[in-house]
Amino acid sequence: MSAGVGNKKSKEIGVGILGYSIGKAHAYGWQDLSRYFYPPKLTPKLIALAGRSKEGVEHEAKRFGFERSYSKWEELVRDKEVEIFDNCAPPSLHPEPTIAAAEAGKQLVCEKPLARNAKDARTMLDAAERARVKHMTGFNYRFLPAVTFARKLITEGTLGKIHYFKSAYLGYNGGFDDPSYPIKWMHQSETAGYGALADLGTHAIDLARFLVGEVASVSGASETFIKERPVAQGSSEKARVDVDDTTIACMRFREGALGVFEASWLTSGRVDYLRFEAYGTMGTIRFNLERLNELEVFIRDDRADLAGFRRVPVVGKDHPYMKTFWTNQGIGFAWQYSFTNELHHFIECLAEDKPLGPIGATFEDGYKAMLIMDAIAESSRTEKWVRVPE
Ligand SMILES: NC(=O)c1ccc[n+]([C@@H]2O[C@H](COP(=O)([O-])OP(=O)(O)OC[C@H]3O[C@@H](n4cnc5c(N)ncnc54)[C@H](O)[C@@H]3O)[C@@H](O)[C@H]2O)c1
Repeated sequence: MSAGVGNKKSKEIGVGILGYSIGKAHAYGWQDLSRYFYPPKLTPKLIALAGRSKEGVEHEAKRFGFERSYSKWEELVRDKEVEIFDNCAPPSLHPEPTIAAAEAGKQLVCEKPLARNAKDARTMLDAAERARVKHMTGFNYRFLPAVTFARKLITEGTLGKIHYFKSAYLGYNGGFDDPSYPIKWMHQSETAGYGALADLGTHAIDLARFLVGEVASVSGASETFIKERPVAQGSSEKARVDVDDTTIACMRFREGALGVFEASWLTSGRVDYLRFEAYGTMGTIRFNLERLNELEVFIRDDRADLAGFRRVPVVGKDHPYMKTFWTNQGIGFAWQYSFTNELHHFIECLAEDKPLGPIGATFEDGYKAMLIMDAIAESSRTEKWVRVPE
């Protein structure tokens, strides 16, 4: 079937999304991509949205323009018009539906962290490869102009050899720093796997791999500071929190660099502090998601008397992803466009049968990030350095 994207036609491809919290950002991205990348090689069509509550899912499906909704993920997998299965549910619900979708021949997108542990992530990777479908893990921050530009500066050698990399994801998740904030699936290992390490830290770990390369070994420490939370707002009944509130780790990269990593959702005052600093023999870059339109750059051969960091606004036409914007006003790039760019990359790779990596994160990247998280958790338990399996 052909879609009417203006007068330029491109074949439609049916999208089904499981989960409608971050699923809303995905619905937006699937719809939005043809407005920036025109005409897209394939035009995503929102077929069906699935969630737990019938009323909630019907409401959101209507709001975002899906044709139908389901309250069971199995129905979404059975829907023949759904060609891309986009899993935006909590991690405990990543493997089974995604594997079922792979077996039904659907193309796969799955939010981060890929699963609760590397073993489950591996089953998802294996199923996707067996089914010979495209697979992408939702590491959307790879698709920010500043991050793409940072990778360019590193890979083209502008910073020289990277010897030290710091990455952190610190926040408060809209209230987790308050002990009266009720328990959510994120606070329990059965649904989440890990806590701040998985929810926030997985992005910082992926960026470490994306920018510097594979991690060889880690030494980590995790702590749960708020050990129980009310079962509901205002309730005196409490449930146990069994995941980390804060995790830190030292890392050794295979190429020789050292790294430091932090993740916490109890860091009051931090909103969305996804930060990295890469120190090379020729220069340094620093990024903070809270100021996502800038990359701080220091180049060592700057004139000595003018030396210092420059704040590069990554919003001009010469910067990654900005040339598809409608105007050259340089007014900036917003968080949700990371999904637009990410999902557009998926569409391009699917249409042209190109590999998603190294720019897009495949399930293999999701699995490798999980291996690092498992190693950090093991190191915290054993109080020893742990090698990340190759
Ligand atoms: N890439 C990002 O920036 C980003 C941001 C937020 C969340 N996430 C990831 O997205 C995933 C979902 O997180 P969230 O914050 O949207 O969670 P959430 O709890 O806010 O929403 C989960 C959704 O899944 C649905 N769901 C849960 N259990 C279900 C079941 N048994 N059957 C059918 N539907 C079910 C719920 O109806 C809900 O719509 C997590 O893996 C999280 O780490 C990624």
